Amino acid sequence: MKTNQALLQSFKLGDITLKNRLVMAPMTRSRAENSENAPTEMHVAYYTQRAGAGLIITEGSQVSKRAVGYIHTAGIHSKAQVEGWKKVVDAVHKEDGKIFIQLWHVGRMSHPDFHNGKKPLAPSAVNPNSKSFTTKGFKETVEPKAMTLQEIEETQQEFVNATKNAVEAGFDGVEIHSSNGYLFHQFFNKNANVRTDEYGGSIENRVRFFFETLDKVKEVIPENKIGIRLNPSLNDVFGIQATEETIPTFDHIIERLNNYDLAYLHLSEPFTDVSEIDFLETEIAKRYRPKYKGNLMINTGFTQETANAVIEAGDADLVAFGKLYISNPDLAERFAINAPTAEWDEDTFYSQGEKGYTDYPTYQEEKQEA
Ligand SMILES: Cc1cc2nc3c(=O)[nH]c(=O)nc-3n(C[C@H](O)[C@H](O)[C@H](O)COP(=O)(O)O)c2cc1C
Repeated sequence: MKTNQALLQSFKLGDITLKNRLVMAPMTRSRAENSENAPTEMHVAYYTQRAGAGLIITEGSQVSKRAVGYIHTAGIHSKAQVEGWKKVVDAVHKEDGKIFIQLWHVGRMSHPDFHNGKKPLAPSAVNPNSKSFTTKGFKETVEPKAMTLQEIEETQQEFVNATKNAVEAGFDGVEIHSSNGYLFHQFFNKNANVRTDEYGGSIENRVRFFFETLDKVKEVIPENKIGIRLNPSLNDVFGIQATEETIPTFDHIIERLNNYDLAYLHLSEPFTDVSEIDFLETEIAKRYRPKYKGNLMINTGFTQETANAVIEAGDADLVAFGKLYISNPDLAERFAINAPTAEWDEDTFYSQGEKGYTDYPTYQEEKQEA
């Protein structure tokens, strides 16, 4: 492996400079186990350990109480949460790292247990037939409540407030979580969104909620501090059934995003094998690199070798690593010396406490232990 790896070159992202092109992908870890759902000292330790990444994107953080769908996830709507995040941001900055917060609304991927018995909000009353992880374990999702026009506006305001809170906490930017079957993705999808008003039907109508939100968010933070996450070929996971209109919908969104001077567009390669589905795209970076003019971040299943290759080929500018960053806090440092990477433990992805969270050793610590 070469030492002048593409991944290890610095990168200008808006008005900040990333020290390398490794990004820690956003990952829910369910460690905000307190009545406020605020980040704790454990979060500070976890993110500081990973500050060697050019950019950290935090776990999905709910923009309001109504936006939640999993236990112990951190939010960005209360004062206590802002205070908790401030400590995380300061610690990462001290290590010369950069950090965006992922703004999250799960929509129908939730359960009445989180909402005092009320139905979760969604574009339409269509059950995703999925599971929600509640305090009483996994429960079947329910038929959600179709959002009224007033609820649509209120939800957009929640994203605006969350963005203001993120600015107050000192984040370098925000990533709008518009992928993986959550609220915005539900609006994009023809099966999840069967509305007959201006937010449903045509492609323009199904993307309206997203673009209106983006336009409101950019009133409170510069465009070049906003990242957008999309997962065009998601199918059969998180309640999403792709349709023949799926790829044309994402083509439309991505071409329209060229009108904004965003920090980046964060795309995922397909989460599952979609090669048998002729209307889905198997190569996301290759399809969208020529269409999108701004900074392109790619994710899903990348290794040191394939990540360097995708940048060298010109198909992406940045690569986000998920699971590898769970088990290798010093991933960038390992890549720099071509050290082996450690395996992750799925059992502790969403468990509580430090085990499987802050106790993965660095390569140097691993060697000393051996
Ligand atoms: C434990 C875990 C939690 C995740 N939580 C989120 C999340 O909060 N927001 C999000 O956009 N993606 C989330 N993802 C998806 C990752 O960001 C990433 O897309 C996925 O792990 C694939 O990348 P990888 O192959 O490098 O792991 C999560 C993945 C894992 C493993």
